[in-house]
This record gives sequence, C-alpha cells and structure tokens, in this order.
Amino acid sequence: MTKGWFVTGTDTEIGKTTFSTLLLDYLVKKDYLVTGFKPVASGASWQNNELVNQDVQELQRHSNANLKLSQINPYCFEPAIAPHIAAMGSHTVIHLDHIKRVYEEAAKQVDYVVVEGAGGILVPLHEDLLTLDLCATLSLPVIIVVGMRLGCINHALLTEKVILSSGLTVLGWVANQINPEMPYYQENITTLNRLMTSPMLAEIPYQDSEKKEILWIKEQSIFDI
Ligand SMILES: Nc1ncnc2c1ncn2[C@@H]1O[C@H](COP(=O)(O)OP(=O)(O)OP(=O)(O)O)[C@@H](O)[C@H]1O
Ligand SMILES: [Mg+2]
Repeated sequence: MTKGWFVTGTDTEIGKTTFSTLLLDYLVKKDYLVTGFKPVASGASWQNNELVNQDVQELQRHSNANLKLSQINPYCFEPAIAPHIAAMGSHTVIHLDHIKRVYEEAAKQVDYVVVEGAGGILVPLHEDLLTLDLCATLSLPVIIVVGMRLGCINHALLTEKVILSSGLTVLGWVANQINPEMPYYQENITTLNRLMTSPMLAEIPYQDSEKKEILWIKEQSIFDI
C-alpha cells in the first residue's frame, strides 16, 4: 500500500525540503500521523556522536511521529558533495534493500511518509545506481518541485519524462518561486501547465522569512495515491 510521496526536484537547492516540510505541516494539521524521511543525505556535522544533516533535522521537526534521526535517514555523510562520492570516501556502499527496510519500519508507524530525495532524479547513489532506482524500489508516486528560474521548463520536462519513461507515477509538480524577480513568472507557469503531463499541485510564493507558507495546494490530487 502506498503510504506517501517521493519529493524530487529540478535541481539541488530549489525547495524540496521547503515543500516537504510544508506538506508535513499540512498533513499534521489534518491530524495525520506523519514523518519525513531522507534516504541519503550528504553534508552533516557531528552532534552527540551522531552525524546530523540539516534537511533531516528539518523534516524531523515538522513530523509528529517522533522517530529518531537514524529511523528517518539510513545514510548520512559528512561532506556536502555528491552522495556516491561521499559514500566512496567513507567506504560505504548504499544498498537499496537497507533503505527499503528502514523506510518500511518508519512507514509502519505512521499514516504517511514524505520522502525527500537528494538533488535531482538522476543523482547517482552508487556506481550505476541512481535516485530513480531508489524511487522505483520505494514505489512511491513522485512530486517534482520546480524551482522557478530561467531554465526550469527544460529541467521540469526532462525530470518528468525520465520518471514516466521508467514506468513510475508522477503525481504532479509544485511551482516554488525561489527567485522573487523571475521575469515572466506567470508565463512560465502557463507554459509548464501546457507542457507537463502531470498537474500542478501547489504553489509556494517567494518568502523572505524563515517560516514559509503554501499559497494553494490541490488537496484532491495530493491524496490521489
Ligand atoms: N519560496 C521560497 N521563498 C524564499 N526562499 C526559498 C523558497 N523556497 C526555498 N527557499 C530557500 O532556498 C534554499 C534552498 O531551499 P531548500 O533547502 O528547500 O532546497 P532543497 O531542494 O531541499 O535543497 P537540497 O538539494 O540541498 O536538499 C533555502 O535557503 C530556502 O529557505
Ligand atoms: Mg533539501
């Protein structure tokens, strides 16, 4: 049974954590028991003998299931570099079956899991293993966060195409206004609405403050899993 979503994006630093935490807030408000989950994280610091990644901490903070960091983040690497290079550097092999086991253990304890991928959909995890393969292993519907900036149409279409061509489900995409001065923002959204196969699910306006809010979310489609 599907118990969540796999959140990917058009690139790194385009709002996957931002959207994932907003989705968690939204679900918590609806009284669901939820947790965030980050299968692979790179860029972490030591705290109380544990490697802690900021995204994982953020996801944990917006979850109401009170799972430990190790229960929502099977692989964590210290350097903020491509995950497969970080894994090699620490002589670790990323195993999908390990991620699946940890994921299933977490999923058992909640109504929904919001999974945030590292970087974009073709980020390698180990030699020829890609984030896309992880998506397939967890068999969750995918949400693509589109960081609205020049080039995003190409990146959004490529991302959707590669996911669909591997037989996975794209639930939809989210417009995240990361650049407050993007010229022709609305025209870009109109074009994405025309060219993307999947529907627009939500819109996050640019917000300077740390606490962000969703402008709107298409509830019916989000739960269409
Ligand atoms: N709508 C927004 N308005 C203003 N700032 C934003 C918005 N969305 C994201 N940001 C900022 O952009 C930065 C990157 O966002 P975020 O961490 O969510 O990206 P990410 O895709 O999860 O990155 P990573 O690939 O490192 O996981 C953060 O500093 C975040 O606060
Ligand atoms: Mg992130």
